[in-house]
Amino acid sequence: MPPEKLDAATLKNNLQTMLVGSEIHVFQETDSTNRLAREFLEKDAENGLVVLAERQTAGRGRFGRSWHSPAELGIYLSLVLKPELTLKHISQLTLMAGVSVILAIEEATRVPARLKWPNDVLVHGKKVAGVLCEYCAEPDLPHGVIIGIGINVNQFPDQFPDELKSLATSLRIESGEPLDRTPLILSLLRHLDGEYEAFLLEGEAHLIQKWSEHSDMWDRSVIVKQGGNLIEGTALHLDPVGRLVIADSQGNELAFDSGEVSLK
Ligand code: BTN
Repeated sequence: MPPEKLDAATLKNNLQTMLVGSEIHVFQETDSTNRLAREFLEKDAENGLVVLAERQTAGRGRFGRSWHSPAELGIYLSLVLKPELTLKHISQLTLMAGVSVILAIEEATRVPARLKWPNDVLVHGKKVAGVLCEYCAEPDLPHGVIIGIGINVNQFPDQFPDELKSLATSLRIESGEPLDRTPLILSLLRHLDGEYEAFLLEGEAHLIQKWSEHSDMWDRSVIVKQGGNLIEGTALHLDPVGRLVIADSQGNELAFDSGEVSLK
């Protein structure tokens, strides 16, 4: 069976959200939905606008990496939000998006996905999804946040490039069956809508608790790479603003607001 095509009207007609998906645009191909979403934002996009593409030719990941985005096999989605928030909240929106991805995967599959701080969604230690949040605050242009989400949905193992084969997985590989992307996207948009509203109304405490419950990092040995430094320790918890707290070998507690974590 050929993979189903994404269709903006079908998504819009079945949407159960207040804000997220206020406009939905589906493109056959683009370089990066995050770049395209920024273009919409600069032209004063609606709050809640969503851009999806069947394929990205230059999908972006964190730290300038690329996001492998083969046609019709994954979800490549960017959401434009225009909150009254500052730069420090952007990391919390990354956590909010991660929780939403987990809840959508839980709803659509039996795949046991878990969160790795700050933006990875893993299954059995391999990456199935990632979040890239970008804060746009150019003078004289509308300000906002772009939340980019990539999910590996229907790839077979041999459809990942060699360098990703041991690191990445897809929902299809993990569940043993193909998955329609449309219900997964609708679920993701609904969870983004609910989690974002809760975050705006109640603040980050509930979000951080939820994030922590969906992570299996706790009490595990980790290495945090920050700038050129590698810091080893044991992952303890997230602090009240969402920073990762680890204990080093002397028992000192260190809090990180950015960095890349490897689980040992
Ligand atoms: C990461 O794990 O490094 C983040 C990956 C984010 C990928 C998504 S795919 C949709 C959106 N557009 C992009 O160019 N990147 C994000």
